[in-house]
Amino acid sequence: MSKLPPVLANLPLPIIGSPLFIISNPKLVIAQCKAGVVGSMPALNARPASQLEDWLAEITEELAAYNKANPDKPAAPFAINQIVHKSNDRLEHDMELVVKYKVPIVITSLGARTDVNDAVHSYGGVTMHDIINNAFAKKAIEKGADGLIAVAAGAGGHAGIKSPFALVQEIRQWFDGPLALSGSIANGAAVLAAQAMGADFAYIGTAFIATEEARASAEYKQAIVEGSSDDIVYSNLFTGVHGNYLAPSIVAAGMDPANLPQGDLKTMNFGGGDSAKKAWKDIWGSGQGIGAVTEVGTAASFVEKLKREYQEARSRLAL
Ligand SMILES: Cc1cc2nc3c(=O)[nH]c(=O)nc-3n(C[C@H](O)[C@H](O)[C@H](O)COP(=O)(O)O)c2cc1C
Repeated sequence: MSKLPPVLANLPLPIIGSPLFIISNPKLVIAQCKAGVVGSMPALNARPASQLEDWLAEITEELAAYNKANPDKPAAPFAINQIVHKSNDRLEHDMELVVKYKVPIVITSLGARTDVNDAVHSYGGVTMHDIINNAFAKKAIEKGADGLIAVAAGAGGHAGIKSPFALVQEIRQWFDGPLALSGSIANGAAVLAAQAMGADFAYIGTAFIATEEARASAEYKQAIVEGSSDDIVYSNLFTGVHGNYLAPSIVAAGMDPANLPQGDLKTMNFGGGDSAKKAWKDIWGSGQGIGAVTEVGTAASFVEKLKREYQEARSRLAL
């Protein structure tokens, strides 16, 4: 077993609902936490920046009230995602609010920074950094991250190209702290598989897009329900960094998914927002695991299904 800080130990289910640009919002985060999985959202989803304080207050108050009413079955903790990339000109502002609200878990992506980790540690929070290879994983821990999120091939958003086995095997040779694994995990058996491989948590993004609480269009949710791994295209055209997207949305935008030009890293802009927001609104990010997503329901009903499947997988293996 790896060493887990108290906030991550004893979760009802070993699952983190991952941050989704534009899509995750307080409604989804609160529903995920109440259902027993870590809920998260990118700080950048609050626009304008001043909205972040309202959202953090809403999440904190609602979960505190829930925990008071349900002392035997408290909500899972929540996480805020910070894009630690030089184009994020809100980072300082958003970090001040993270510290003010003592956000329990901070997920950092696209850059590892000691000062960000120090700020979270100043109030006892925990940081997890997402990486696509072992070298970045080592760098993140050197810079003070407490845990790692291995983003393997087939993940939605900015995914890597490594097999989940390769990533977890390499990381577990030197790291015994909190480790989440992502990439196409969309049912309970896959959650157990992630644990069997050596991860502590399954990190699930795309499957939560097909929930009622997610801030995505009905067409996007339906495309996830109807699609399969054959519909996923890996391209760096839209943000300059390689990611996985739904082919039908690329066709709808007038492009041929089989013949996409190369993107330019210089075009990448998360902090300024509008160009990135437009790209992610029209071109739908999605991991390869959507074949397992068969309906749009509430986040709670999806977590209930994951729990049932997880327990079935455990019994099948006589665990
Ligand atoms: C539409 C979409 C938006 C995403 N936005 C972010 C983001 O803002 N920050 C981040 O760290 N990861 C983001 N991700 C990546 C996820 O947090 C996570 O790594 C991934 O969804 C896990 O793989 P899965 O989608 O196959 O479950 C995004 C993924 C998708 C599908």
